Amino acid sequence: MTSIPSVWELTPEQVDGLLATASRAPSLHNSQPWRFHPTARAIELRADPERALPVADPEGRELRMACGAALFNLRLAVQQHGIRPIVTILPDRDDPDLLAVVRHGGSKAPTPEQRRLLTAVPAWRTNRHPYSDEAVAPSDQYALRRAALDEGAWLHIVGEPEQRAALREMVVRAHDIQVADPGYLAELERWTAASEGRRDGVPAAAAGPLPEPQDPWVLRDFTGGKGRTRVPGKDFEKEPMIAVLTSHLSGDAAEVQVGQALQRVLLTATAGGLATSFLSQVVEVSAIRQELRQLIGGTRPPQAVLRIGHGWPVAATPRRESADLLVPERTTST
Ligand SMILES: Cc1cc2nc3c(=O)[nH]c(=O)nc-3n(C[C@H](O)[C@H](O)[C@H](O)COP(=O)(O)O)c2cc1C
Repeated sequence: MTSIPSVWELTPEQVDGLLATASRAPSLHNSQPWRFHPTARAIELRADPERALPVADPEGRELRMACGAALFNLRLAVQQHGIRPIVTILPDRDDPDLLAVVRHGGSKAPTPEQRRLLTAVPAWRTNRHPYSDEAVAPSDQYALRRAALDEGAWLHIVGEPEQRAALREMVVRAHDIQVADPGYLAELERWTAASEGRRDGVPAAAAGPLPEPQDPWVLRDFTGGKGRTRVPGKDFEKEPMIAVLTSHLSGDAAEVQVGQALQRVLLTATAGGLATSFLSQVVEVSAIRQELRQLIGGTRPPQAVLRIGHGWPVAATPRRESADLLVPERTTST
């Protein structure tokens, strides 16, 4: 197994901690499509094409978002060591898998907000289970929108009944399109209901209970949980808060950037005691993604759709060891 090197003034053990924090980020089907290359001067973040999901994510958009989320965690972990991270996204046009480079930008103590978000990293989980009917307070909604804005994105909360009805119908249609595709189902099968001992993929226990016809928002939360049934007395909330995360621009760099915003929103929710899950079918089926874009104003590309509310604790999913995340020597560039 490759050993972890030191970076800047940090020991290998501290670098191991940085990579472990980075990889607690969410990724589609827990594919963990990231690799890191710590050098004496910088930490490179690379996409791992072997972990791509070509059916659900043919352009690698969600792969870059997941890497952006890992990048946000990495920034928090670096800040915790009193180092200001300087991030360059897609520094080399001829090397599109090199998604970001993090350099030492001098000494700076972490802010209370950075500490708060870092504390939320190990507590973060995708929660596919029913939430309570308690509404998300306006102050929490504001904090989530602020978090997106602070990373150059926008969180559109879908509140209008007509917009919600249209989105609900899109969710069902996108779900039906995906589950009618044998290629999609085969890919899902490879990555979900992961066997015990596997350090990637979505374990069966992470799936939500079987939704009923009136629960279209959580249709996909069940897909990974083969053989799951309804849990008596545990109904899904009637009107979950649904939010669409949009970016200013399209393209690879915008996707890494919006992944950072996604992670800031998710950690802000976690730190505020809120639970979160994803409804990605509406952004994965490209025709429906266009419809969604029109529905919320037509200008900004939708990148992620989230369900947010007050949930109950769920178990963490596994991650690979830091040493397994290192780039093999032949693909490194610095
Ligand atoms: C871009 C993106 C899209 C995702 N879409 C879905 C989704 O549609 N449904 C779902 O249940 N989980 C979705 N997830 C969550 C992952 O399955 C989850 O992050 C992964 O299994 C690791 O679990 P954790 O988030 O609890 O640590 C998505 C994650 C990312 C980053």
